[in-house]
Amino acid sequence: MRKQIVAGNWKMNNDLAQTEALISALKNQTKTTDAEVMIAPTATNLWQAYNALKGTQIEVIAQNMHFAENGAYTGEISASMLKSIGVNTVILGHSERREYFNETDELLAKKVDAALAKGMRVIFCFGEELADRKAGKEEAVVGSQIKNALFHLNAAAFQNIVLAYEPVWAIGTGETASPEQAQDMHAFIRATLADKYGNDIADEVSILYGGSVKPANAEEIFSKPDVDGGLIGGAALNADDFFAIVNAF
Ligand code: PGA
Repeated sequence: MRKQIVAGNWKMNNDLAQTEALISALKNQTKTTDAEVMIAPTATNLWQAYNALKGTQIEVIAQNMHFAENGAYTGEISASMLKSIGVNTVILGHSERREYFNETDELLAKKVDAALAKGMRVIFCFGEELADRKAGKEEAVVGSQIKNALFHLNAAAFQNIVLAYEPVWAIGTGETASPEQAQDMHAFIRATLADKYGNDIADEVSILYGGSVKPANAEEIFSKPDVDGGLIGGAALNADDFFAIVNAF
């Protein structure tokens, strides 16, 4: 059975005091589902968050990392550095990384390799822009993002890959893909995986939806058969909202 996952991507929000306050509020919440719960605070607060949440059901994960092991990459963080502070999962390929930091499929393939080589789990994000969807090219775009960054991997690698479909037009805009649009795309993604790796692998990979998931729409989106959870931005910054989404399964 593939895992259900709700991951909160805090993006560049919350200083240390705000991180501590939000974590305290999260610790007061009760989880009523089997879904795995993760939060991704900003890099400077990962260690604090890891310690504050040790022994709880909330995993602390990173928003990004570099592909190199170490060296002259000013401002960057490696997989080993993350692992050394207890962080074993990393989000890669978020559309904001692609758009503002010029991350390409080729670069992301290297980052995925580096994370997997260290035994980390990857939440790999991708999704089409509004113009792609208007032109009816959403499947072509998503298919090529997945193939370019992931299809050099062997089947076993997918034990440590979670996919996150995030249509760019729905991120932070208040606009969500309809549950049917999400299901259609997730089914396409699973079929794309099955074509290359077979049904057994495709059935085991969790595919999350991201893009303006809120307490009011989470239940309907998560009820779709190929939607295995969510990557949550804005609503993850409020403990009540985030746990309402966690409990929407
Ligand atoms: P959002 O962000 O929930 O604020 O739309 C989702 C994401 O970027 O992962």
